[in-house]
Parts: sequence; C-alpha cells; structure tokens
Amino acid sequence: MQTKTVKVPKDFMLGAAVSAWQTEGWDGKKPFQDSYLDLWYKNNKHVWHNGYGPAGATDFYNRYKEDIGYMKEIGLTHFRTSINWSRFLTDYEEAVVDEEYAAYIDRMINELLANGVEPMICLEHYEVPAVLFEKYGGWGSKHVLELFVKYAEKVFERYGDRVKHWFTFNEPVVVQTRVYLDAIRYPFEQNTKKWMQWNHNKVLATARVVQLFRTMQLKEKYGAKIGVILNPEVTYARSTAKHDQEAARMYDLFFNRVFLDPAIKGTYPEELFTLMNKHDITFNYTEDELNMLRENTVDYVGLNLYFPHRVKARSTAWNENTPFHPEFYYEKFDLPGKKMNPYRGWEIYPQIMYDMAMRMKNEYGNIEWFIAENGMGVENEQRFKDEHGQIQDDYRIEFIGQHLDWLLKAVQEGANCKGYMLWAFSDNVSPMNAFKNRYGLVEINLEDNRNRRLKKSAYWYKDLIESRTLVV
Ligand code: BG6
Repeated sequence: MQTKTVKVPKDFMLGAAVSAWQTEGWDGKKPFQDSYLDLWYKNNKHVWHNGYGPAGATDFYNRYKEDIGYMKEIGLTHFRTSINWSRFLTDYEEAVVDEEYAAYIDRMINELLANGVEPMICLEHYEVPAVLFEKYGGWGSKHVLELFVKYAEKVFERYGDRVKHWFTFNEPVVVQTRVYLDAIRYPFEQNTKKWMQWNHNKVLATARVVQLFRTMQLKEKYGAKIGVILNPEVTYARSTAKHDQEAARMYDLFFNRVFLDPAIKGTYPEELFTLMNKHDITFNYTEDELNMLRENTVDYVGLNLYFPHRVKARSTAWNENTPFHPEFYYEKFDLPGKKMNPYRGWEIYPQIMYDMAMRMKNEYGNIEWFIAENGMGVENEQRFKDEHGQIQDDYRIEFIGQHLDWLLKAVQEGANCKGYMLWAFSDNVSPMNAFKNRYGLVEINLEDNRNRRLKKSAYWYKDLIESRTLVV
C-alpha cells in the first residue's frame, strides 16, 4: 500500500479533549449538586449501558495526576476539558464557590502546566445546574443567563492568570435540540419556540461573557483568548438541483449559521428573522441585545466535526397540523454506498475537514479556529485487545490520519486552522449512552478498577506529535 507523509506546522496544537461531567466522577465523600445531564440520566434509564451510568465516570477527580502523566507521555500540547458549573458553585444566585471543587480545579490546572500541557477550559459542556433547569427552565431564562455571567466571573477570577484558552459553551445547540425540538430527552416537550429561545440566550451569553472577559483584560494581562465551541454539521445536498440545494441551505441556516454568524460576524442572518416570524417562533430579544452581539464577537472558535450531514428536498409536504420544525424545509438523505463506522453507526467522510476549513476561509473572514473535537467511537472495544491486553485500534489511527490529512491540506491552502483536539483523551461517559462508545487514546477498564492503559493509537499519536510528520 502506498503511503504519503505530510508535515505538521511547528505551532499546530495537537491535543485531546474530554469534559468535566464525562470524566470527573464522584469524590465519594461529598454529594455534588446535579447538572442537567444528571437529570437526563435519572429520567432516561435506557441511556445506561450494562448498568453503568455517570456515577464514577473515569474518576478523573481523584486520578487526574495519573492521567496528566499519560498526557505528558503522549506529548499532548493541549488538554481540553470543562469546569462543571453545577459543582463549581454551591449557591448559583449568589455565585458562592465550592472551595473543595475549586481547589481541585486549581490543582488540576497547575498539574497540567507543570507537565507542559496547556489547559483549554470550557465553561459549560451541557452542565447547566439541574436546579436552574427545574426552577427557571434552564437556558430559556434570561435570569439563568445572568447567573452564568456571575459564574464566569468567579472562574476568571480564580484561574484567569493561568489559562490562556477559554470557551463559553461546547455545542450550544445540542441540549435544546434533543429536549425541545426532537423531544427525546427529559422533559420530553416539543416546543420549537423554546428551542429558538435557548439558542438566542446562549448566543447572547457568549457575547456577555466575551464582554466580561474584555473588561477583566485577560488578554492584555495574560495573553488569553476567548471563544465558543460549535458543532457546525457540514451539510451536503443530495444533488446540485435547486430544491436540494435549498434544503441544505435551510438546514445550515437553522443549525449552523444561527451560532456561527453572531459569534464571528456579530449578527444573525437577516433571513432568520423572516423565517422565525413566518413560523411564529421568534425568540424574545431587544435591540440592546443585538448591539451586544455586534460589539462582542469571539477571538476564535473551536469546531467539533465528526460526520457529514446529508439532506434533500422534502418528498412529502409538511403536515401543517404538527408544530413547526426546521424539517419543514428538508429531509435527511441517506447516501447510497456511504462509508460507515461499523462500530458506532456514523458516516465517515474525512473531507468534511477540508470543506469546513474552506468555508471558514471564504465566508468567515478567515477567523482563527481549530478542531475542538473529532474522533471515532467504538462499541465493545475490548474485543480488539491483543494477547498482551492492549487495544489494537488501527481503525482509529486510520480515522484520525485521514481527517488530519484533509485538514492539513486546507492549512497548506491558507485555512487559519491552528490545531486539532482529538475526542477523546480517555474513554468516558457519553451523554447518550454511558460507556458504550469508546473514543479514548487511553482505555478505562471498568471491570478492573477503572485502570488505565494506552491503546495502540496513543503511541501513534505520540509519534505524530514528536515527529510532526503525518504518515497516511
Ligand atoms: C460530542 C460531544 O458531540 O460528541 C461529546 O461534545 C460527546 O460530549 C461526543 O461525548 C461523542 O458522542 P457520543 O454520543 O458518541 O458520546
């Protein structure tokens, strides 16, 4: 088989990601307050896997030193995680910090820095406090937005002098899409208007936190940057026919541009207001809020890219008696012969990296960005252990290699992409299905005291980082 080698630019960040809720687990002594994800689990027993729920997670809370040792061994330049808002404060209204949890975050950040790994911290990776969801309706409430800004301030005060990479949200579209658009998660309420309100309130929260960040002068004092991590689904139309192209454009408008445009350009697409009015789903907003967006765009963005999204024009008319859903404008399209990840069920199409990169260059003023997540989930990965007990994940090596190859091609062509964070550093609890899909460079052996072991891909990634040469 022919191979090719590609040089990775010197300062290109090569790291890995997880999130707080997906790894920390319990202290064992102290009950933490729940986040919305805990509610999600308590009310959706089917997301559990072989009896494993979120309790314990990977025990990163207690084992972070050991894990950071592995990060150092692999040579990760950056480690991306979140702070769990629901744990960081004991009182959300007054922003009273939980000193025990805050001290753990402090130690964890210091340990990363001491080992030459730059922390990247996200303020919310789906971890809105459960009580704020139950009491105020979560991100549907502007009061919750105010509480988020207070929380952000406390976090910046504590760690702003050491963390150079900050993000407001991870994939801000996801929770409300499952909860209010598709009504497949607690509290199972279809309500498209609420979906839009959550979208807007999170967009606005990003601008408010960017403003706070600038007022606190974290860039001037410490060279830090602030952004948001989005999951624009690279959308392909079934054909070049006008009606299919229009379907893809509408999907993109409702799910991608609604976040990309205000974060980077400071404005929503004009057409969004026309469509919201037409379908009676306009979010509640003020002119001051729109000004806030204009004046507080992000420094950079992280993009999570896993698979392509394919759509076609509707083959049947939308049933007008059902509540409006963006699917009014499109249907999902199943590409015949598409390449599938046989172990997870998502399509594999590495060219998404290049296509998205070119879009950032051509449509978003070539703003600085990086891949904040990309990776391959595998069910029942134990079956790939060799006789010495190491997971031989050649499929993951191939997956990462091909995606990086397309990404680096875009970089050579002038895309302003600054790095790649693999999902995930270690196996972890998925919001969707507990420990069913494994993504890690590091195996977490649940049957054996959550012991860690580097998979074959970890050594491959280590070589890549050391040599700065991709061989595909
Ligand atoms: C990303 C999320 O969209 O996908 C992660 O940011 C998540 O939190 C990851 O774990 C993988 O998805 P899943 O459903 O296979 O865990």
